[in-house]
Amino acid sequence: MSPKHFLNFTNLSKKDLINIIDRGLELKTMVSKPKSMEGKILGLLFEKPSTRTRISFEAGMQRLGGSALFLSGQELQMSRGEPISDTAKVMSSMLDAIVIRTDSQENLEMFAANSSVPVISGLSDVYHPCQIMADLMTFKEVNKNLNIEKVCWIGDGNNVCHSYMEAAQILEFQLSIFCPKGHEPNAKILESSKNFVTISSSKEEALSDASIVTTDVWTSMNSAKQSKEKELIFKDFFVDSSAMNFSKEGSIFLHCLPAHRGEEVSFEMLDHPSSKVWMQAENRMHVQEAILEYLLLD
Ligand code: CP
Ligand code: NVA
Repeated sequence: MSPKHFLNFTNLSKKDLINIIDRGLELKTMVSKPKSMEGKILGLLFEKPSTRTRISFEAGMQRLGGSALFLSGQELQMSRGEPISDTAKVMSSMLDAIVIRTDSQENLEMFAANSSVPVISGLSDVYHPCQIMADLMTFKEVNKNLNIEKVCWIGDGNNVCHSYMEAAQILEFQLSIFCPKGHEPNAKILESSKNFVTISSSKEEALSDASIVTTDVWTSMNSAKQSKEKELIFKDFFVDSSAMNFSKEGSIFLHCLPAHRGEEVSFEMLDHPSSKVWMQAENRMHVQEAILEYLLLD
């Protein structure tokens, strides 16, 4: 039987999504976590830099009694041309699950298709599903429910935005995206999520009634280096404390981090009373522990 993977939200049911979030919240409250990963080894194959994703998976695995092995893509024979399919067959014969951070969703899917163990996306050029699981867990931790009516996304229609678009379809919330022309999300993902996603023509409209306000860097790791021209295009696409006056009362501000203060987010915003970004970052670990249990124990 082929293993379950976690590459995006396409094959995730609403029930499983909610169960994972609830388990993440439960694991967070435990002083001593169950040794549910005892004897298991998680491989982390990263082709791009990371702070949160790497640390949260390594620490989470250890807290659940397992161990983790970090592998930089540059140090593997893949960097000298060994096919992804061969690498996947070999790595999955020795490891229990594998997290991959890559610039190519296509390569990630090819790896998963050749892996005999679960593969988890640690971010690709197209999606960042673990991040959105942490965002949703944070909303539930703050509000004690997952009744999200509207999310406002300000900025680039990027990988994190695409995972919000997929989550909107599962949880049936409205996602309003305020992005510059030419930086809209992927057209195919927009088409499949069109009942839940709108591209707003004004920032106020996007913010209005939103219970989550979120943004991300103007230039993602897979994009060309940020130019002065791009900074001009994006200059109005930021969140500051005044933006929160337009969103729903009690709304929270989230940012996947790393943040570029003075660009997509103002200097004060990360520590504004509505900001839950530090809780959100910590929740990466708890929710990913729950994802590991979902993939490896069920
Ligand atoms: N948010 C996130 O994925 O952070 P890292 O790039 O530090 O892993
Ligand atoms: N969109 C960003 C997210 C980083 C966590 C990037 O891909 O660089």
